[in-house]
Amino acid sequence: MNDPKIIIALDYPAAAPALALAERLQPELCRLKVGKELFTATGPALLEQLMRRGFEIFLDLKFHDIPNTTAQACKAAAGLGVWMVNVHALGGRKMLEAAHEAIAQSTQRPRLIAVTMLTSMAQEDLADIGINATPAEMVLRLARLAQDSGLDGVVCSAHEAALLREQCGDGFCLVTPGIRPAQASLDDQSRVMTPLAALQAGSSYLVIGRPITRAADPLQALLDINQEIGEPI
Ligand code: C5P
Repeated sequence: MNDPKIIIALDYPAAAPALALAERLQPELCRLKVGKELFTATGPALLEQLMRRGFEIFLDLKFHDIPNTTAQACKAAAGLGVWMVNVHALGGRKMLEAAHEAIAQSTQRPRLIAVTMLTSMAQEDLADIGINATPAEMVLRLARLAQDSGLDGVVCSAHEAALLREQCGDGFCLVTPGIRPAQASLDDQSRVMTPLAALQAGSSYLVIGRPITRAADPLQALLDINQEIGEPI
C-alpha cells in the first residue's frame, strides 16, 4: 500500500493558500498536516476539500483536557475521516486511555499519537512548572506512558528517534518535525536533521513545512526529498 513518509505542514492563516498549495501537490506523494491556526480559521470544510482531492490529513490539534472531553474531541476527529490525530501525553494515563478507547471502534480509525514534551520547553521551563526531570527523561517517560495507554506513537524530535525506536519497538509510530534538507534554510528551527538521517534514526513520518511550502516549485521540492529518501516517485 502507498504510505508516503512526508507530511507537509500547512501553516497558513486561511483556506485559499492551503488549497493553492494542495493543487500543486499529489496525494500519492505526501500527506498534509492541518494545525490550530488553519483549522481555527477554516473549520472542517477545508479538511473535506483536501480529502476530496485524495489527501490524507494529520489533524494536529494536540487535545489536552479532562478524559471525557478529550475522548469526545478524538471521536469527532475520527468522524471527520482524518488519517491521524494527536493529544498531549501530559494529560495523563486516564486521558490517553479514554482517547484511545473513544476511537477504537471507528470504522476508519485514525492513528492516535501523543505530543510528549513541546520542543520549545527547555530545562528551566520544566523547572518553572515544577518538573525536575530533564526534557529527555520526560520524553521517554511520556512516550512509554502513551504506548502503555494504547496509543500508536508520538511526535518527537528526530534527535530522540533512535532512543525511542530502541525503547518502544518497531511498531511504534514516530512522527518528527524539525526536518531540513541539507541545503535548506533553518528558518526558526535549531536542532534539525536531514530527511534521510531522520528515517535512518528511526522516524516513521517526517513533518516538513517551509522547505516545501515556500519553495518556488513545491512539487519539485517534494520530489527531491522523496528521491533522497528512496520513496517511489
Ligand atoms: O516549516 P517547518 O518545517 O519548520 O514546520 C514544522 C511544523 O512542525 C510546524 O507546523 C510546527 O508547528 C511543527 N512542529 C515543530 N516542532 C515541534 C512540534 C511541531 O516544528 N516540536
